[in-house]
Amino acid sequence: MWCSSPDTDPLIAARMRGGSGAVAGTHTVRHKRSNRDGVHPDCMAEQTILVTGSTDGIGKATARALARQGHHVLLHGRDRGKGRTVLEELEEATGSDRLALFIADLSVQEQVRGLAEEIGEAYDHLDVLINNAGVYMPERKTAPGGIEMTFATNYVAQFLLTHDLIPYLSASGRARIVNVASIAHRSVRSVDWENLPEFDDYDAYGAYAVSKLGVIAFTGGLARMLEGTSMTANCLHPGVIDTKLLRAYTSGAGAAPPERGAEVEVHLATSPDVSMVNGKYFEATRWTHPSPLALDPVVRERFWEMGLDLTGIEGWSVKSRRQEMTV
Ligand SMILES: NC(=O)c1ccc[n+]([C@@H]2O[C@H](COP(=O)([O-])OP(=O)(O)OC[C@H]3O[C@@H](n4cnc5c(N)ncnc54)[C@H](OP(=O)(O)O)[C@@H]3O)[C@@H](O)[C@H]2O)c1
Repeated sequence: MWCSSPDTDPLIAARMRGGSGAVAGTHTVRHKRSNRDGVHPDCMAEQTILVTGSTDGIGKATARALARQGHHVLLHGRDRGKGRTVLEELEEATGSDRLALFIADLSVQEQVRGLAEEIGEAYDHLDVLINNAGVYMPERKTAPGGIEMTFATNYVAQFLLTHDLIPYLSASGRARIVNVASIAHRSVRSVDWENLPEFDDYDAYGAYAVSKLGVIAFTGGLARMLEGTSMTANCLHPGVIDTKLLRAYTSGAGAAPPERGAEVEVHLATSPDVSMVNGKYFEATRWTHPSPLALDPVVRERFWEMGLDLTGIEGWSVKSRRQEMTV
């Protein structure tokens, strides 16, 4: 069971719907991690959870399931109109008044940084970060900086957002980072480093698979860095799920509904069974080995270095914002 310290529970007001910048909170959200009687919330499962890419597919189903469990769910999307529609739909479907909406295009690094800042302004901690957003690009496109779009969205944005949210995750009593990878990473036999990150020699499936190999390699390095802290990082393949991402690659025939993929994400985000698990890769809700390449220390190091290079991050600190403020 996750517990939170009663001395770290000030009221937090989220932004108003339609607010300026990258955030559009649904309404003022009062998030207090103690119940109305002031009882220490030992047995409360209520968490503050960001689900990136929750305007569609697996992320939306994950957000719906988490909202039904009573969590504060921070929805995220790139299109404000679509986001508002999903927000209203999920409020209606779940009866939750604990949803907020944040808008940021993750292929644009300034917006990734803005998203983290807006969340940091609205909440003093984050219990779970689900890096779910992802794309499959049949045709090559580039993001700002010339980085190929799949790699920019699936890998670089995840690296940067996680880095920028670490202070708020660290301020949680016990935080989880859940990175959505894919079984597609197994198709990568070797990485053509010269082709990254522009992917001038473009193969859509290849670019997608390399981006997900990067996610698993990154999660491994991150988990190692988080050892001995109150945070864990794991990654997963959600299954073959009928979403628009899958349909950009193949027909959705025979694929499972988004709710099945959401079960995997919710499991890693909230199940007590995995509260102490760190640095693992799951297919469905079962831990398994990723490809040997994903575990290769040289591959891990190269992806990590590339993440630093492409984002301009000089180093990682796992100190919380609270610690930094009081030191
Ligand atoms: N479906 C599968 O079979 C399968 C298998 C393995 C792994 N996965 C992974 O599962 C995750 C969810 O994918 P899905 O299948 O649910 O796909 P999806 O239905 O297309 O949903 C993807 C989500 O990511 C958002 N997104 C995409 N690009 C973005 C950007 N630049 N900035 C901000 N948000 C962005 C989308 O926003 P919009 O609503 O605006 O499009 C949407 O909310 C992805 O990481 C994917 O790689 C899926």
